[in-house]
Amino acid sequence: MQLKDCHNIEDFRKMAKSRIPAPLFHYIDGGADDEVTLRRNTDAYNDYDLIPNGLADVAEIDLSTTILGQKISSPLFLAPTGMTRLFHHDGEYATSKAAEKFGTYFGLSTLSSVSIEDVGAHTDGSKMFQIYIHKDRGLTYELIERCKKAKFTSLCLTIDTIVAGNRERDLRTGMTMPPRFTPSSLMSFAMRPRWVYNYLTHSDFELANLVGRTEKGSKENISVIEYLNSQFDTSLCWDDAKDAIDAWGGPFAIKGVMSVEDAKRSVEVGASAIMISNHGGRQLDHSPSPFDLLEEIVDAVGGQIEIICDGGIRRGTHVLKAMALGADACSMGRSYLYGLAADGQRGVEAVLSMFEAELKRDMMLMGLNSIDKLNMSHVRKRNW
Ligand SMILES: Cc1cc2nc3c(=O)[nH]c(=O)nc-3n(C[C@H](O)[C@H](O)[C@H](O)COP(=O)(O)O)c2cc1C
Repeated sequence: MQLKDCHNIEDFRKMAKSRIPAPLFHYIDGGADDEVTLRRNTDAYNDYDLIPNGLADVAEIDLSTTILGQKISSPLFLAPTGMTRLFHHDGEYATSKAAEKFGTYFGLSTLSSVSIEDVGAHTDGSKMFQIYIHKDRGLTYELIERCKKAKFTSLCLTIDTIVAGNRERDLRTGMTMPPRFTPSSLMSFAMRPRWVYNYLTHSDFELANLVGRTEKGSKENISVIEYLNSQFDTSLCWDDAKDAIDAWGGPFAIKGVMSVEDAKRSVEVGASAIMISNHGGRQLDHSPSPFDLLEEIVDAVGGQIEIICDGGIRRGTHVLKAMALGADACSMGRSYLYGLAADGQRGVEAVLSMFEAELKRDMMLMGLNSIDKLNMSHVRKRNW
């Protein structure tokens, strides 16, 4: 299978599966517990219909919008995802460059495999750094200072990973970082010789922002679940969010907001945006989909804070529905990671190009020439 055979995200997913060893594919693909929320995140978009209008002069389509202080060419951006050099040796070099080429935001995780400084030097595009607060509190403020120096344009604080979700696929495949060749996974590594060759011939995998601070995850093999549970601070509260916002002093998002209460608290602590997100169904199973929560959160805090819908997006029509319900932008994780695992930067660009074409075509079919014109009149809940 090649990129030219990929016409939708499911095709990219299949290609990714054929290219990388099973523990890594399932780390990207899987969710928590029974994966009810993982499935719901995408299925929820089917509960609304799009209502088109005709004869509306759609000769020129403007997909641009402004979020977290940056004008971006597409309302869909790359959410932060950790350890991406495990999926392709170019990792965050590939994803950040692809985002820059398409004029959209790039999210870099605390657990990235390329450092804040290297990403800063590699791309001039809009860059958001995602903070996980470690038990070592001093680390958070060091990371914030490093982001300032590396000219990151915004920060986000993830609040949904106080403890690791129960990702059973990882338990079955024996997924660790760095990967460990176990008897059960050996075959799947042996059958991906290109991945093994690239892994062994490029620089060692490491949690690049944490070098010198923790050996775990870079030099000592550890499961992601063990890492999160041993390193992250479980006493985190809203005062800590406020402190981080004040220390940064620029555009700041709270990622993982899943209730009206937390949306309101985000406004109170002075955040500029919220990312409605359940971590792509990887944390609390049976939490609702971000799309299902949009309407009530927009009703409560719309206009006071920017709202990003994060999770389950596999189609341009999903983005249009979220924007119609009041989202200011959308973000994706797996969709671009499948492209990365399939073929590095080329794969991510192919995914972004597919979304751009879908969004433009769907906008024309909707009779809309600017993404900012989408509103509630363009969607209708099914079975009213
Ligand atoms: C492999 C993988 C790694 C992720 N790593 C992080 C991370 O380090 N920090 C974070 O805030 N979110 C992380 N996420 C969650 C994404 O930022 C995003 O919320 C989620 O993927 C959106 O759902 P989607 O995959 O259906 O688009 C990760 C998601 C995946 C799939």
